[in-house]
Amino acid sequence: MATKSKTDESKAEEPEEEHIMTMEEPLEPEPTIDDLPGVGPATAEKLREAGFEELLAVAVMSAGDLAEQAELGEAVAGKIIAAAKKMANIGGFVSGAALLERRREVMKLSSMVQSIDDLMAGGFETQALVEVYGEFGSGKTQIGHQLAVNCTMSIEEGGLDGDVFYIDTEDTFRPERITQMARGRGLDPEAVLERIHVARAYNSAHQMLLAEEIKRMSKGRNIKMIIVDSLTSHYRAEYIGRGMLANRQQKLNRHLKDLKQLADVNNALVLVTNQVQSKPDAMWGDPTKPIGGHVLAHASTFRLYLRKAKGGRRIARLVDSPNLPDGECVYQVTEEGLRD
Ligand code: GTP
Ligand code: MG
Repeated sequence: MATKSKTDESKAEEPEEEHIMTMEEPLEPEPTIDDLPGVGPATAEKLREAGFEELLAVAVMSAGDLAEQAELGEAVAGKIIAAAKKMANIGGFVSGAALLERRREVMKLSSMVQSIDDLMAGGFETQALVEVYGEFGSGKTQIGHQLAVNCTMSIEEGGLDGDVFYIDTEDTFRPERITQMARGRGLDPEAVLERIHVARAYNSAHQMLLAEEIKRMSKGRNIKMIIVDSLTSHYRAEYIGRGMLANRQQKLNRHLKDLKQLADVNNALVLVTNQVQSKPDAMWGDPTKPIGGHVLAHASTFRLYLRKAKGGRRIARLVDSPNLPDGECVYQVTEEGLRD
């Protein structure tokens, strides 16, 4: 939906600067949902309870979804979204220069393993969704743990100086492992664990609710990373067979949208893990393909394919990146964490 520009149309001369300025507005904490025309205290309260603290969070919703989540009428929700879009100035097209400006907000989380950072051109970007896929034991959970630890480190050290939210669907999060990795970086394990917030998801519906819960909990916290390990295991177990596929993909798509929204609003990194097809004789052939189909392929900004190699080494392959060449790197999983 296009939003009318506030600028006088006769002055088409110097649009770049205008655009750069408007692009920065949503990132300033100035206007709030209370400033939306037609939103009284009661509606603002409903929005807050549903986790819509920021204008941007409202602006990126669909009317149907906002109506459902904030318990509003759909027409009201539509009006609120339209107003939020205007105030946050995110409707319509922006220049490449303005996009570049928004990209300047992007931070990079270092893996602190040279080969992996080289592959990722310096580290894992915020405002992005990274999918890490591979077979059992390929090291997906290890990457999640390591990046969680690194995320709590200072920006000068390559971290994001932020909190981590970890949705654990397979009961494989281990504080002991975090402790080992924190020590491996010379950090106080307790201080690191304090900043990693973990929830166990019991089924896919619960997993989706937890992602919405993060939205609520982001208030007053510097969330810089969200991990879902594994993104797909519950969906895969619950939606079995061809007849369920469309429904599964629809739910997964919704979940991914929520996650991407968290990445955008918080300038955070979302990391999800995924398995490969386990049965080589399955209907869709290739056993090295990640599950989740087009929905996930489309939602991921970066995809990393992990596999084991000889001598305890691991190989990570970057697949389908928007701006980086495909390539591979080798590293190791040690007691202290990931190492070159
Ligand atoms: P699934 O979740 O089962 O699909 O596997 P995954 O890809 O998440 O594998 P995970 O990250 O759990 O990797 C497990 C492997 O990491 C183990 O088989 C070990 O090789 C390695 N690993 C885990 N902890 C340690 C450790 O303390 N020291 C060393 N050297 N290796 C470890
Ligand atoms: Mg795992």
